[in-house]
Amino acid sequence: MATCVANDRAAWLTGPRTTCSHPPSAPTRVWRLVLLGPPGVGKGTQASLLVNRIGACHLSTGDVFRAAKSMKACDLSPAMRQALEYMKRGDLVPDSTVLSMLQERAGCLRCSGGFLLDGFPRTVAQADALEKLLDENQVKLDAVLNYDLPIDQIVARLSGRRTCTSCKAVYHVPNNPPKVEGVCDTCHGKIIQREDDKPEIVRNRMEIYNRSTAPLIDFYEKRKLLVTVSADGSPEKVMNATWQQLTHLASDPQD
Ligand code: AP5
Repeated sequence: MATCVANDRAAWLTGPRTTCSHPPSAPTRVWRLVLLGPPGVGKGTQASLLVNRIGACHLSTGDVFRAAKSMKACDLSPAMRQALEYMKRGDLVPDSTVLSMLQERAGCLRCSGGFLLDGFPRTVAQADALEKLLDENQVKLDAVLNYDLPIDQIVARLSGRRTCTSCKAVYHVPNNPPKVEGVCDTCHGKIIQREDDKPEIVRNRMEIYNRSTAPLIDFYEKRKLLVTVSADGSPEKVMNATWQQLTHLASDPQD
């Protein structure tokens, strides 16, 4: 399978007034997927591997909020300023803020290259709203990939995570460090530890996941969209397990 040039996701990260650098050309098979799973299970890592295979854009709501963090305070709307405070504590940003951000970026859901939604939906209200928005845009989800991993392994992944402030590439110390300490291999941006990866904040994020996001497993199971994948093993092993499941789905005709 040919690899694709990754899009810079400008329209997603900074809003619809910006144009993407490499808008995906329509692939043979368009995938529209949601990535579900607890914080730190490896959704972002899988998304960046999947993007190369399927050509779709990685639409992470967390990345939009983190991109807003580097904007000048005077350029931030009051809702976005408030969102950053929720994020710092590991709390969910209010549904109304997340939904208006998504509405603004609905064009990304219609993109001919498809999408990988990561970190959205996170509540049943968000899942209901996504269902409505996709219906309005005559777009259908292919699957919801639900990544599963024991909690002790998740905590180890989060405590070692490092992220590029510029291109958002994800590393792990000591398992997958950048070649030069503190510098991104891809864009030479600065690598940092996320504020919300501190142990006490991670605990809060896990509790919130169990309370607010885990019910989506049942929500999507009822709609026959749920595909559970074990996130145990190397990123490549998890990617191959994911790809196997997608290949299986691809043998079903698309409508
Ligand atoms: P968000 O950015 O979505 O964070 P998250 O869901 O908590 O997920 P993470 O990014 O922490 O983890 P991940 O599963 O992507 O793992 P990764 O691939 O990095 O959201 C952040 C915040 O934004 C929220 O808390 C909330 O405040 C707000 N927010 C966002 N969306 C919202 C919404 N819809 N509603 C309300 N609020 C919202 O991997 C983790 C580490 O493990 C890395 O170091 C990686 O290198 C390593 N790793 C990955 N895979 C493997 C593997 N197979 N083996 C070994 N190591 C691995």
